[in-house]
Amino acid sequence: MTRQVYLSPSLLSADFGAFAEAARECERAGAEFLHFDIMDGAFVPNITFGPGVVQALRPHSRAVFDVHLMIERPERWIEAFAEAGANILTIQAEACIHLQRALALIRANGMRAGLALNPATPLDVLEYVLDDVDLLLVMTVNPGFGGQSYIPAMTRKIARAREMLDASGREILLEVDGGINGGTAKTVVDAGATVLVAGSSVFGHPQGLEAGLQALRTAIIRE
Ligand code: DX5
Ligand code: ZN
Repeated sequence: MTRQVYLSPSLLSADFGAFAEAARECERAGAEFLHFDIMDGAFVPNITFGPGVVQALRPHSRAVFDVHLMIERPERWIEAFAEAGANILTIQAEACIHLQRALALIRANGMRAGLALNPATPLDVLEYVLDDVDLLLVMTVNPGFGGQSYIPAMTRKIARAREMLDASGREILLEVDGGINGGTAKTVVDAGATVLVAGSSVFGHPQGLEAGLQALRTAIIRE
């Protein structure tokens, strides 16, 4: 079965002084999603930006704004990201005590609800929130920084997640994030991923962003 696969370039690897141009370029190059990595210096050892930046970029792109919160107690920020124009809001299971309530609140604010799992977090956490999730994000590196290497054990996790999502009979996107490039893209798509986040392989491509996106597309074309 061929599933539609979407590309979600991560601004974390773009020039922080030129986000608007990067957002426009991603759309021109045909990326369906735009990935925002929100870090608070507590859940992860890095700080990026907040809803103000998401809001400022909204007029520059019609892509699906795919916002990934790597912050403690993300429930505090759900409304703010809805107002900023996020379409998908993904929270880390490890950062949230009342996970089901937070996921429901994301939908109540008009966004699609995403659940992210760190590499060491078992898939079990998904079992009782399947009804509340529109996207499952399998982190393929430990979050915090771009440019890390894909963790090979995550291929098994993606494949198992695919089985769980298929068994649920629901339309849930399966996103992967970390170390995705021309070399790993086919592995994750074959395992069942449907949204590929990529930062350094897109923005750091020697021939530019468009070539970086094309390298991913070429890698996932099935013979
Ligand atoms: C990791 C972030 C990723 C990151 C991926 O903390 O969640 O979205 O930008 O970067 P690459 O593609 O360089 O591994
Ligand atoms: Zn991310």
